[in-house]
Amino acid sequence: MFLWVLVLGAFVSRSECYFSEEKYPEESKMQPPTVVIAIIARNAAHSLPYYLGALERLNYPKARISVWAATDHNADNTTAVLREWLTVMQQFYHYVEWRPMEHPTSYPGEMGPKYWSNGRYEYLMKLKQAALNFAKTRWADYILYADTDNILTNPETLNLLIAENKSVVAPMLDSQGAYSNYWCGITPQGYYRRTAEYFPTRQRHRLGCYPVPMVHSTFLLDMRKTGMKKLAFHPPHLDYSWPFDDIIVFAFSCRVSEVQMYLCNKVRYGYLNVPAKPHHTIEDDSISFSHLILEATIDGPPMAPSKYVSLFPKQRDLMGFDEVYLINLRRRQDRRDRMLYSLNELEIDVKVVDAIDGGALNSSDIKILGVDILPGYYDPFSRRTLTKGEVGCFLSHYYIWKEMVDQQMDKALIFEDDVRFQANFKRRVLRLMEEVEMVELDWDIIYLGRKQVKPGDEEVVENVRNLVVADYSYWTLSYAISLQGAQKLLNAEPLSKMLPVDEFLPIMYDKHTNENYKSHYPNRNLQAFSTRPLLVQPAQYAGDPKWVSDTETSTLWDDDNVRTDWRGSHKTLKGAPQPDMLQTSYKDEL
Ligand SMILES: *[C@@H]1O[C@H](CO)[C@@H](O)[C@H](O)[C@H]1NC(C)=O
Ligand SMILES: *[C@@H]1O[C@H](CO)[C@@H](O)[C@H](O)[C@H]1NC(C)=O
Ligand SMILES: *[C@@H]1O[C@H](CO)[C@@H](O)[C@H](O)[C@H]1NC(C)=O
Repeated sequence: MFLWVLVLGAFVSRSECYFSEEKYPEESKMQPPTVVIAIIARNAAHSLPYYLGALERLNYPKARISVWAATDHNADNTTAVLREWLTVMQQFYHYVEWRPMEHPTSYPGEMGPKYWSNGRYEYLMKLKQAALNFAKTRWADYILYADTDNILTNPETLNLLIAENKSVVAPMLDSQGAYSNYWCGITPQGYYRRTAEYFPTRQRHRLGCYPVPMVHSTFLLDMRKTGMKKLAFHPPHLDYSWPFDDIIVFAFSCRVSEVQMYLCNKVRYGYLNVPAKPHHTIEDDSISFSHLILEATIDGPPMAPSKYVSLFPKQRDLMGFDEVYLINLRRRQDRRDRMLYSLNELEIDVKVVDAIDGGALNSSDIKILGVDILPGYYDPFSRRTLTKGEVGCFLSHYYIWKEMVDQQMDKALIFEDDVRFQANFKRRVLRLMEEVEMVELDWDIIYLGRKQVKPGDEEVVENVRNLVVADYSYWTLSYAISLQGAQKLLNAEPLSKMLPVDEFLPIMYDKHTNENYKSHYPNRNLQAFSTRPLLVQPAQYAGDPKWVSDTETSTLWDDDNVRTDWRGSHKTLKGAPQPDMLQTSYKDEL
């Protein structure tokens, strides 16, 4: 018995020794799969810095990535930009294959820099095939194709696509419009077919990874799948009779190889540029790409150029105005940053003015400033009176008018800070002001963004393109104002009979419908115009997830205790009921 215990004790202590004293390292982790990124660049000098910036920020170990880059037939600086980037980046990536072709600079018979001849399609298919062969030879696990105007702003894109375990998978890319990099239907002849699924997918009303008959522009192939052996970009399959176009040839190849294409829209991955015209030029591409850069700021992280590509410094100016003002509440840093980023992209110089923060004003401050409400003023929709935010907003505009008059400025342009720019904004403003000057138009304000209260025709201004005489309008998102206009607004002495600034202006150009309000302002001779189409829109509408109005949701102007916490004035809602109808019924009460 004693012996037993002894033996057992020895046994136990020996096994303890075995586990506790000798340390064996854990198995090391698997390295991430290897990826080839195929870059095929042509006439893309405008988008390349952003494209390459996004690639270099992909959250994936560069030592597990090889880059295969080709460029050819360029009429612009594409080769130099790509070379500059690869020269720096090759030390980080596992391997870089560089295939530049400096000459010729276009295809024979090419009608414009972006014209797609059969020769061009064929050359592109061969390039894509060469990249595929490279990935096969190197036994890469994946190959990512991404067109050079596709900007993968989401740094997790590669990881997210790999995690889907699909043979062919594309991230849904956003654009300036409805266009994206997939089709939900294909005709028996291989053309795009309109389907009921397209828009719900595009607008993310349904989220997931869906089998689709076509993905293009950016997609990931899993080279380890057996189906991959038969896939080809070139030559087209022997049975191929569909249009001679690289994306359709590849979709057909997937179909005959029984490889399903998938599209994912679970998150935002990035953007693709849609050129405006079918036979667009490099210049057109560049303009629409600039617009895409601005659009991407609305609800995503802004695109950022690569650190390793030299960019021309921006040439900012005032577009012929004496001053361009941006009104921003200091506590809305996000909006300030977005507007400054956008205006810098547009090469517009701007002076930021700190908006009067209505929320920080108390009723005695307001009295000292000489502010009093217009007798009988009620918001037509909420039936509340003026808010402190509206007082702050009015004062912010007012002090700009005053600065203009004090400094005798000829004309100024004013922006509030939640503006979304139309494409080609700067050129359109320059052309507009040139034509306004040419016809010697007598103008006080020109709305660049507003909400027309009564939809309907407005008088067109002769010999100035895209300009109308403004009817009753809301909002003060952006407007040009002349010295004469600023003087008229100050002369009206509006502080002592205040109503929201976007109601004050229509009174001053005599298009307001409320006779009672108008009676307090006898000189209603402001010359007001508006661009049509508008050159700016609000970045966020009431009801959008991120919408916050600083003027319409703040506390009532003369009461420090009451908090008006309601969200979303009808005034800011898209397709809101027309106030005229409502106003008539209020008129009697007022
Ligand atoms: C072309 O790109 C290179 C590299 O980014 C740059 O140094 C050069 O200034 C560019 N030239 C032109 C004309 O844009
Ligand atoms: C992909 O495969 C991995 C490993 O087999 C698995 O853990 C993961 O859930 C799969 N993902 C999807 C989206 O099916
Ligand atoms: C209002 O605010 C000012 C500072 O902005 C302060 O000096 C003043 O005492 C305040 N008045 C009241 C009634 O709270």
